[in-house]
Amino acid sequence: MTDYPQILFKNRRPDETVFIDDFRKTGGYSGLEKAIREMTPQEVRETVKRSGLRGRGGAGFSTGLKWSFFPVDQPGEKYLVCNCDEMEPGTYKDRQLLSADPHQLIEGVILSAWALQATEAYIFIRYAYEQEARHLERAIAEARAAGYLGENILGSGWGLRIHVHRSAGRYILGEETALLNGIEGVRPNPRRKPPFPAVRGLWGRPTTINNVETLANIPHIITGGADWFKCLARSPEGAGTKLFGLSGHLNRTECFELPVGISLREVIFEVGGGIRGGKPFKACLPGGASTPYLTGEHLDVAMDFDSIAAVGSRFGTAGVTAFDADTCMVAVTLNLIRFFARESCGWCTPCRDGLSYVQWLLEELEEGRGGKEQIELLEHQRRNITGRAFCALAEGAMGPLDGLLRLFRDELEDHVRKGRCPFRA
Ligand SMILES: Cc1cc2nc3c(=O)[nH]c(=O)nc-3n(C[C@H](O)[C@H](O)[C@H](O)COP(=O)(O)O)c2cc1C
Ligand code: SF4
Repeated sequence: MTDYPQILFKNRRPDETVFIDDFRKTGGYSGLEKAIREMTPQEVRETVKRSGLRGRGGAGFSTGLKWSFFPVDQPGEKYLVCNCDEMEPGTYKDRQLLSADPHQLIEGVILSAWALQATEAYIFIRYAYEQEARHLERAIAEARAAGYLGENILGSGWGLRIHVHRSAGRYILGEETALLNGIEGVRPNPRRKPPFPAVRGLWGRPTTINNVETLANIPHIITGGADWFKCLARSPEGAGTKLFGLSGHLNRTECFELPVGISLREVIFEVGGGIRGGKPFKACLPGGASTPYLTGEHLDVAMDFDSIAAVGSRFGTAGVTAFDADTCMVAVTLNLIRFFARESCGWCTPCRDGLSYVQWLLEELEEGRGGKEQIELLEHQRRNITGRAFCALAEGAMGPLDGLLRLFRDELEDHVRKGRCPFRA
């Protein structure tokens, strides 16, 4: 397999976690020291903006642009929140990063909080990631003992505390405003936007929320520079590397750090080792459970936000789940919709009632009881839910349904014609 530049995974060793001494030996905390000793917070923010870094939590929003909305000079409490909820099926990259190298995130949080002049930081972590939460707590204690946390960090006159907050354990808690409610200890419905968290976030104070991988990239951007970071990507639309979590019917189902802009073909056939048992490739989710499928006709697409959007899907979290030619895409979509319907927070009607109705329609079709009208009703529901729900959970759930209706209509019709799932013996 090609040797890809390893930035985020440079310290990764099988079954080992790197703590402060080894982290420092490989340049750890030098980004923070450079920023505080040689740069202003504004210079850090501008460097991040020029680097082209886009959020790694799924939506791909420009990190520099998001930070530019933050009222850095406003007096009083200001918060940075790191999102490590990671409950999207097929996505497990943040866990890999934390289990290999927790200080990388701690350095990213401190440096980003300094750039934003935040006064307190929270790492919101999935309840099931208990071991990683403990790694984080140990890393925070080590960073504090080394003078990277607490009062007057590196003589800057600025101080920071980091709290590790364990999630209550539902998918909706990953949505940034539901997450803020979760930290505040109230029911985690998403909040109305605007006002955006940068204006009214945690306890009504300015707050920025970023993903683990996004924040872990910041020290590297400061040490390497914006141009270096941009050039790590293969496509002009991209910047940096990306953690790809491979799963499904591939020979190698692991998490890999790969250049942004690598082709889907290379991910599936070189990095993933191709489809198990030598079967043909049928389709994949390119960026987690809420992204429309890509098929064989998309194998040459560059894996970056804009190129994937241009072919009707999303880069999302780069959790790539591949399916072989014997897979029933109706069953796959039903499985995903069951997850989204179960995880609906119940706040708005299109999602609460619509997703369970979509689930029922797909169950009827998969069990051979559905007719052509069920396919039309699926199409109607897709149109009805898209853009009408209160938050992006329902919109995301429509990703695989949209892919099914656009790319696998013949398979749906085959279920109707045969009165059973054609993939079952
Ligand atoms: C239902 C739902 C679940 C989400 N789960 C996560 C998650 O687990 N981790 C994450 O970083 N972002 C998640 N997001 C996206 C966040 O709302 C937010 O956009 C992200 O944390 C921003 O960070 P970034 O700009 O660094 O990507 C989720 C969004 C939705 C709608
Ligand atoms: S779209 Fe779903 S998860 Fe989001 S607010 Fe509405 S019911 Fe809740």
